[in-house]
Amino acid sequence: MSKITAAITGVQGFVPEYVLTNKELESMVDTTDEWITSRTGIKQRHILKGDNLGPSDMAAPAVIELMKKTNTKPDEVELLIFATVTADMIFPAAANLTMHKAGIKGGFGYDINAACSGLLYSLATASKFIESGQYKKVIVCGFDKMSSIVDYTDRTTCIIFGDGGGAIMLEANTEGLGIQDSILESDGSGWKHLHQKAGGSAMPPTQQTIADRLHYVYQEGQPVFKWAVSKMADVSRDIMDRNNLNPDDVAYLVPHQANLRIIEATRRRMEVAPEKVMINIQKYGNTTSGTIPLCLWEWEPKLKKGDNLILAAFGGGFTWGAIYLKWAYDSK
Ligand code: UT7
Repeated sequence: MSKITAAITGVQGFVPEYVLTNKELESMVDTTDEWITSRTGIKQRHILKGDNLGPSDMAAPAVIELMKKTNTKPDEVELLIFATVTADMIFPAAANLTMHKAGIKGGFGYDINAACSGLLYSLATASKFIESGQYKKVIVCGFDKMSSIVDYTDRTTCIIFGDGGGAIMLEANTEGLGIQDSILESDGSGWKHLHQKAGGSAMPPTQQTIADRLHYVYQEGQPVFKWAVSKMADVSRDIMDRNNLNPDDVAYLVPHQANLRIIEATRRRMEVAPEKVMINIQKYGNTTSGTIPLCLWEWEPKLKKGDNLILAAFGGGFTWGAIYLKWAYDSK
């Protein structure tokens, strides 16, 4: 029997309608379009407006469209893994809510919290279920509603983040296409540089935690930047080397979109040409778990069966990693 691999057979993105531009941010905090563009590459980001809406409300329409695109009936979906740091509720999982809203009644689902590396952790985990031969169709979602944990009075963080993400169908493949290799790493000592102080069980919400604005993203930009540049570049190069990939063999680098300068450092280390790098940070900002599926969705029409892709990310935790995959289809 030929080896089973887990191949991506469809991608569907979703971003909410409202666009928050750098210009609008200029009226909210002491910043300029010029500073944001030159330091991060971001021009605008999408924001989910409306009461009682969470990542599952962005994921469900994407999952419904994804099932249509891949001729999948809801009862064929065996597992849905949801990468997020902003789940609709502490429990149940955003995966369960998404399955319910998308009309998926069988199967099971759970969330993975690995910050900006969540999509990679989820894809790698999902691939193991398929490679085992036990599961044939698994959906991986990566969505965040970062606007729910961003302090719009803090100019160092509010300019970076946006809402949105995408859903990815993974199916069993016997042609050797799909996920070939993954390297996932973490170092919990990095927690102090990037975290949300209150709202978890260690510091449940109180009037004081709210008054002290502790329910927002806390980030020390410089150390996070230094770690991100070194780890994302190292891991991307490592996965190329251990799979004997030359820069010419790589069709695309699919980097987490946190900062244009981090992406450029990774590209240089991999020695791939600039046109081989998926970049849409200018439109969406950093959507945490959502950046990589939003890239794959946007580039899907250009991708060819057999293309070698390197996915790479770095995020809170600290977490980081890379995945090497062979694209499995030509766009219709
Ligand atoms: O997604 C997962 C993980 N997150 C990341 O990968 C983010 C990594 N970090 C970064 O991308 C960058 O560190 C930031 C974009 C967050 C900040 O850029 P930076 O070049 O590291 O700026 P900085 O923090 O060193 O600040 C430089 C100056 C400071 O002023 P002084 O002290 O030099 O007078 C800041 O107060 O820029 C100031 N500043 C701003 N000025 C205008 C900080 N934010 C802003 C702003 N507008 N929005």
